[in-house]
Amino acid sequence: MPKLWSSPARVADQVDDPIDRLVLNAMPGGIVLVDRALAFTYVNPAGEAMLASSDAYLRGRPLVDVVPADSHVVALIGQVAEQGASISDYGIPFSTRRGDSHLVDVHVSPVGDPPSHVLAVLHPCSVARQLDQQLANRSAARSVSQLAAMLAHEVKNPLSGIRGAAQLLEAGLDEEDRVLVRLICDETDRVVALVDRMEQFTEPRPVTPEPVNVHRVLEHVRRLAENGFGRHLSIVERYDPSLPPVAGDRDRLVQVFLNLVKNACEAAPANAGEVRIVTHYRHGLRIGHKNSRERLELPITIEVWDNGPGVPDDLASQLFDPFVTGKAKGTGLGLSLVAKIINDHGGVVGFQNHPQGTVFRVSLPAHVEAGGR
Ligand SMILES: Nc1ncnc2c1ncn2[C@@H]1O[C@H](COP(=O)(O)OP(=O)(O)OP(=O)(O)O)[C@@H](O)[C@H]1O
Ligand SMILES: [Mg+2]
Repeated sequence: MPKLWSSPARVADQVDDPIDRLVLNAMPGGIVLVDRALAFTYVNPAGEAMLASSDAYLRGRPLVDVVPADSHVVALIGQVAEQGASISDYGIPFSTRRGDSHLVDVHVSPVGDPPSHVLAVLHPCSVARQLDQQLANRSAARSVSQLAAMLAHEVKNPLSGIRGAAQLLEAGLDEEDRVLVRLICDETDRVVALVDRMEQFTEPRPVTPEPVNVHRVLEHVRRLAENGFGRHLSIVERYDPSLPPVAGDRDRLVQVFLNLVKNACEAAPANAGEVRIVTHYRHGLRIGHKNSRERLELPITIEVWDNGPGVPDDLASQLFDPFVTGKAKGTGLGLSLVAKIINDHGGVVGFQNHPQGTVFRVSLPAHVEAGGR
């Protein structure tokens, strides 16, 4: 095989050979061939879709006209062009200058003997891989709702009695002892606030799906973030304007994205921190829903990206479990609430670390008009 690719002219001929073209066209992964100057020589149809440009348009154009020069994929291709050895990397973000982004597994290898071209094969990260992780989160919140109901009854109610009694005592005490009473009140308030947070898990109403414009939800969350916990960084929105409404509960979706955007803002660095909220429509993701045998399609995809240090390895496998936190003052309830609400919607949520930070991805069902499909 390498002999066939021995000169730039041969390589170009080869991809134009009818049989080879048939095979390349049928490949599910994006195939991008560039010459040593990193200009496009050939892109197969899956690659055209990922780059949102046609092969005819791309041929002869520099790679960096279409893919940002600082992207990891360009760095890998440059490295292979220079060093001549193959490299693979997994779960890395790949975006075009137009802003479309995917997570991909990428294999880059030199082509030709001696090498005259570089071939990059881009596979969107398998939906199955993302789903495995997401489905595992579905039960995470169930135990919290039971625990919260018990705590509300057994802890919160007695605490208000304790607080009231302490305040009654305060009147007869000197200043030194009053400090202790205030300590009791502050600590009971803190525990009550924690139980209140847990009570969000016991929401008795089932989700009654209404058509919700998810962009309005996200804009609302962005405004809240920019005026509060996200004041110090830039929050960028990249929305697919043609996205249909989600079938969901607006207020609970606000809770979901507030938690995700808050975590992203807390993870992003204080200097040059960036949080990106991206929406797009994804075909073909279907999962079983509750006890029904029907498979629910989850085309509405919302991603929250940050450029922080990534989820710590030791937390990754239990991230959506309650009380798992890497923060000194975290309760570790944010993501389990997210998992519960998304599960109540029949959706899935998962995350991936990438070289520049983390992405949390939520997939939800679209609203279908009564009588429609
Ligand atoms: N975008 C992110 N980047 C890196 N780590 C994250 C990110 N989001 C969550 N984590 C990790 O997951 C942990 C759990 O998050 P979760 O929202 O459940 O709780 P928390 O943020 O610690 O506390 P709380 O939400 O109650 O304030 C975090 O403490 C953090 O270590
Ligand atoms: Mg949180």
